[in-house]
Amino acid sequence: MTSKSIDREAPPQKALVIHPERDARGSPRSAKARLDEAVGLAEALDLDIRDAITAPLRKRTPATLFGSGKVIEIGELCFQLDVDVAVVDDALTPVQQRNLEKAWQVKVMDRTGMILEIFARRARTREGILQVELARLSYERSRLVRTWTHLERQRGGFGVMGGPGETQIETDRRLLAEKIGKLKRELVEVRRTRNLQRGARQRHPFPAVALVGYTNAGKSTLFNRLTNAEVVAEDMLFATLDPTLRMLSLPDGRPAILSDTVGFISDLPHELVESFRATLEEVKEADVILHVRDIASENSDAEAADVRAVLSRLGIEVADRNFVEVWNKADLVDAETREHLEGDARRSNPPAVLVSAVSGEGCEALLETIARLVDDAPPVSVYATPAQGAAVAWLYRHGRVLDRIEDDEGGVRLAVRLEPQALGQFEQLYPKVDLSPL
Ligand code: GTP
Repeated sequence: MTSKSIDREAPPQKALVIHPERDARGSPRSAKARLDEAVGLAEALDLDIRDAITAPLRKRTPATLFGSGKVIEIGELCFQLDVDVAVVDDALTPVQQRNLEKAWQVKVMDRTGMILEIFARRARTREGILQVELARLSYERSRLVRTWTHLERQRGGFGVMGGPGETQIETDRRLLAEKIGKLKRELVEVRRTRNLQRGARQRHPFPAVALVGYTNAGKSTLFNRLTNAEVVAEDMLFATLDPTLRMLSLPDGRPAILSDTVGFISDLPHELVESFRATLEEVKEADVILHVRDIASENSDAEAADVRAVLSRLGIEVADRNFVEVWNKADLVDAETREHLEGDARRSNPPAVLVSAVSGEGCEALLETIARLVDDAPPVSVYATPAQGAAVAWLYRHGRVLDRIEDDEGGVRLAVRLEPQALGQFEQLYPKVDLSPL
């Protein structure tokens, strides 16, 4: 099995970044912004970027992605720049990758390979490491399967079975499948432990606040600023893979738990969606979600739309939740823009706060906004029979469940904090459910 990973001990490898520009009509992001993002990803791998180009792509050529003229042109550029790696900011089939490597005489890395490598470097917790490894093996397996099908087709008509090539690939596939099975079992165990730990945490009466945001929006910097903690904040993409939890002190002295999450990215390769999603578990359970945005980025709106779309796919809707938009990097905008932004922030729904995680400006106001949103309602005790499952689901969506005990009859007793308004709604919707002060 070949691995395309970059040797981390070696000096930075010289790289050319190529962004294949498909028909971009209707895309909210400019080709330049996409190229910049690809360069950012490559930089996160410590590659020494010699040049970055956009290559128009009218149609995808099956063998080499680019048309033959472009392949020659890029090959000459690779030669002139004396690069070791060509990064193609798109998904390549194994055949395309091999053909391009042959044509250009350099290592070729595609977007999925690049993001996998970044995830692998950034993974910190056991769960994160396992998830990335699983994604990496699944990626390799899909390549093996396709390669195998391809070989099989080449042999078609000869009726030959069990040739040496086939045996080797089958062995590789079996080994991969075994490794994948083992990793999956390990993941289940790690998650079970984590869920137990999370269950224990949920019984603490601390509200949970989660940071989400596009990659490089400044989440880690804000996390440090708000919790006065030192976690990695680097001018590179994906400084964070696994959720990191810290205590946060609200202005009224109440404690809360703040979690940092991995940055979002456009067109996340589908192989990676699962491992990315798993890093967002904390967000699902948060009482307040802070959406950190780089307000100085020319793609700020498109990035925010991406983040909301991903959250929505996870069942997290802005309208249903305590959401705060954190408009970060206020120090980078000019006075006129800032004035506009301040006006927009005052009118914004969900609430928006203009901050600079670097200078600390606006952070007090942000903490006050969080404190206002975090309920102080006294907990109530609810008993639901097995037939009242809908009421339990409603409470999970609208309240903060502190405790849950199931009895032998299949009934559930919950200790739950509800805002006064939510409490009123609940009593109207489910008048038959038993509810009492705790
Ligand atoms: P990922 O881990 O990739 O998701 O990134 P992140 O959102 O955690 O971003 P991070 O905190 O690593 O910040 C990215 C870059 O933006 C770093 O170079 C920060 O110094 C910079 N940055 C963050 N906040 C601000 C800010 O308010 N102003 C300025 N000027 N730069 C900032």
